[in-house]
Amino acid sequence: MTDLSREIVYQIYPKSFQDSDGDGIGDLKGILEHLDYLASLGVTMLWLNPVYPSPQRDNGYDVSDYCAIDPMFGTMEDMEKLIQEADRRGMKIMLDMVFNHTSTEHEWFKKALAGDEHYQKYYFFRKGKDGLPPTNWESKFGGSCWKYVPELDQYYLHLFDETQADLDWQNEEVREELKKILRFWRGKGVRGFRFDVINLISKDAFEDDFEGVGKRFYTDGEQVDAYLQELRADALDDTIITVGEMSATSIENCAGYTNPDRKELSMAFSFHHLKVDYENGDKWTDTDFDFMALKNLFNDWDVKTEALGGWNALFLNCHDQPRSMSRFGDDVNYPDTSAKMLAGVTLTRRGTPYIYMGEEIGMPNAHFESIDEYRDVESLNYYDILKEKGHSEAETLSILARKSRDNARTPMRWSKDGGFSGGDAWIPDARRALPSAEENLQDPDSVYHYYQKLIELRKESPAIQQGTTVPILEDDPQVYAYRRVCPDEEIVCLHNFFGEEAPIDLDLDDYSLLLSNYPQKNETSGLLRPYESRILRKSA
Ligand code: GLC
Repeated sequence: MTDLSREIVYQIYPKSFQDSDGDGIGDLKGILEHLDYLASLGVTMLWLNPVYPSPQRDNGYDVSDYCAIDPMFGTMEDMEKLIQEADRRGMKIMLDMVFNHTSTEHEWFKKALAGDEHYQKYYFFRKGKDGLPPTNWESKFGGSCWKYVPELDQYYLHLFDETQADLDWQNEEVREELKKILRFWRGKGVRGFRFDVINLISKDAFEDDFEGVGKRFYTDGEQVDAYLQELRADALDDTIITVGEMSATSIENCAGYTNPDRKELSMAFSFHHLKVDYENGDKWTDTDFDFMALKNLFNDWDVKTEALGGWNALFLNCHDQPRSMSRFGDDVNYPDTSAKMLAGVTLTRRGTPYIYMGEEIGMPNAHFESIDEYRDVESLNYYDILKEKGHSEAETLSILARKSRDNARTPMRWSKDGGFSGGDAWIPDARRALPSAEENLQDPDSVYHYYQKLIELRKESPAIQQGTTVPILEDDPQVYAYRRVCPDEEIVCLHNFFGEEAPIDLDLDDYSLLLSNYPQKNETSGLLRPYESRILRKSA
């Protein structure tokens, strides 16, 4: 059984990590060039976003063949080499399994479209009602989630883009096909799987939703547990680490999916904490984040998940989210300090931390200024939707600049002059250039070296790995703070989320400072400086 509390996952968005052949698109050989950099950071597992053949409508989340490598990323030999070379440096590989839907270019879907009823049963083909789609549900990328196929006089379901057709997991053959894919990659030495939007796989009732956009009919459906248990029993085991991406779920459900007794998943990603800058639940708004909501969510999830025996994936960044430093920190006045403070949050909580490419060098948002710079299908759709809703060009661009997924997808900044590709990158560089990886490596006080120290600390601290979480200073409007307590050790973590000083009313006489994001220590002071983070240990 792997000890999840000792794992630290690094997420690579292959398209933007390192281009080895000058075509402007990152690739597997590019990743190979940086394995030493990753190993010296101290991470134990590398999660790669999809690298399978795909029309790239949704950057690889529209898979047309699950057991091959898209030539734009390299070859199967490159992948095998990557697995071996990572393993030699003590890192495992985790692949992304997009099993809620396939690309409409997948051979199963092509056969279904050509009239093969066997394959039509792999998907949800349904008759419309009175000239309307089967239900009024909306796609997560905007518009109806049903696409009409005139030749069949039927609609098919796509919860995401219309080129991402949902698979019907009720069909046992579909489940068998998916297990074969897992076995294939295990045979190659892959040791982890990330399951894309996995709590959407059980669609029980196709009814119009008069209260919302359909989510409640397909989120955390009745069969999700049973399907996950079957996948695990037939195609996985204790040596494999799995993480499920959960859309709009609850603590109870996540704890259930990840409680080891239930034999479903190792851990789960949830997103409530990344919705604290939505206005009335609407992502596409230009709003500051609500700190108290964020802190209450951290506290609630950590305490309740532990009580229910579950395990969380800890993250503030991924390929679908704006950069945390621009979002919850200050990328103009306190870039390094706030990036380090946020690193302390991710790396000292209960769960398995995930670091997203570039986070460890303090990469900010893209700060794009024109729609021509965006590539993401969701952002491009919402550009039109927001304008249709009456927003001006300037307002629309300002909302996209805050919320677009492309914020996380700009090329990794390896050196002062970029260093991602010898050619024209598929997406522009972030407009705000902060220290590159090279500059980070040279500076002992850099964000990179702070991540390294946090990782070392985590690896040697039983309380950070396994301790109980006890929230403190719960009403403080500026500081997020907690104790991590286990029989042999007690840790206190204090994080000031603002650019102003924060007084702290705590007796820390018995504690000594382990790590702080300010070079000049002031461990006894009852005042946290702007974005200051302190990690202390109770003296024995
Ligand atoms: C997940 C992925 C996202 C993708 C979507 C549809 O949320 O992380 O990038 O667009 O699923 O597959």
